[in-house]
Amino acid sequence: MNVTPWEVEGVIDYSKLIEEFGMQPFSEVLHEIENPHILMRRGAIFGQRDYWRIVKAMKGKEPWAVMSGFMPSGLPHFGHKMTMDEIVWHQKAGGKAFVAIADMEAHSVRGMAWEKTREFGLLYIRSIIALGLEEDAIIYFQSKSPHVKDLAFELSVEVNFSELRAIYGFNSDTSLAKMFITAVQAADILHPQLSDFGGPKPVVVPVGADQDPHMRLTRDLAARASIFSFEPIEGGLRVRSRKGKEYLEKIKEIGFERKVYEEHIDIFGDSREIERAVREIEVEIGGFAFIPPSSTYHRFTTGLTGGKMSSSKPESYISLLDSPEEGAKKVMKAFTGGRATAEEQRRLGGEPEKCVVFELYSYHLIEKDEELRQIEADCREGRMLCGKCKKMAAEMVRNFLKEHQEKMDAVDLGKYTIIG
Ligand code: TRP
Ligand code: SF4
Repeated sequence: MNVTPWEVEGVIDYSKLIEEFGMQPFSEVLHEIENPHILMRRGAIFGQRDYWRIVKAMKGKEPWAVMSGFMPSGLPHFGHKMTMDEIVWHQKAGGKAFVAIADMEAHSVRGMAWEKTREFGLLYIRSIIALGLEEDAIIYFQSKSPHVKDLAFELSVEVNFSELRAIYGFNSDTSLAKMFITAVQAADILHPQLSDFGGPKPVVVPVGADQDPHMRLTRDLAARASIFSFEPIEGGLRVRSRKGKEYLEKIKEIGFERKVYEEHIDIFGDSREIERAVREIEVEIGGFAFIPPSSTYHRFTTGLTGGKMSSSKPESYISLLDSPEEGAKKVMKAFTGGRATAEEQRRLGGEPEKCVVFELYSYHLIEKDEELRQIEADCREGRMLCGKCKKMAAEMVRNFLKEHQEKMDAVDLGKYTIIG
């Protein structure tokens, strides 16, 4: 398997991906979440980093944010719908929502004309609003956000070519823009923590697993761009300054028990309290004090025709803008986990875990667990054959698309903050 932000190939083994990338399984935090989304409960979201920060912020009613982005290089489809649903869920759970339209990325990496990125971008915006995004979200086009562009430049100070080569496999043919776009995405993710947006806070970034290299870079940059760094010690935290010893002066008077050394200060007490107090001082003296962003990772959406979903193969995915008829037709042609003959299927049962139609039910079409369990059992025990099952799914897709598109048309963009 090969998973990078620019390419996903092969059969994906998600436990291996967790190990290779150094993520944490989502199951570790699931039980801490009140009313988890079906994508969480049903295993579509399989990995995370530092999601505990979000859990703590939700429970403690402290400010936190959710942010993710969409590359407007084609029509939004059910893969994007996962990210959209995740943003909306987190917003309803109390996070401030930020939505990026990655037009700089689409223009530089995919060669899309600016007018096209705008046209597609607005479809993503209408879609996420139709899916329930509320008005206090901040929606922006990368190319129109001075905060993001300035921060990208600032962050790029901290990145050199060897690092980009190691993370992304870039080489001497890679364009400067494709390299720079990594800093732009890092800025997308960190800018909700700028003082203009209320200062440092936990931010969760729901993404597909291919975006993890960006998360790793961004988490490193969050630390490198900030003045103070933290290291756990017995009974507290060791605090260092990355930008010169003189900054340590600023925290000498901090209201905790402490030991001052030449190169660092050891501060004793509750680590979270210490971190918070030090970050507050950093913000006062003009530093970023970024908290490393958290993330969740969802599975890749399987293409309807078996292989991976590809925007260059329209029959491989259902777009949120396909006509309801077209969408239903695509479901009828989808690969299933059924057997070669009806006789065999009655005898052996189907394999829902291998079935694209079941994935649609599970991640998008069926809310009620009871209903989903029934379909799964009927499939496994050979009581239901694929023809009938697909018809039912096709009908649901038809209704979903019809409703979704009506909602999209009814969206009043004027009620939203859209930078672009
Ligand atoms: N690179 C992402 C993609 O290809 C889109 C994106 C841009 C993004 N900025 C982001 C995702 C910030 C998460 C956070 O889909
Ligand atoms: Fe998939 Fe339904 Fe066929 Fe089972 S019966 S394999 S869930 S289409």
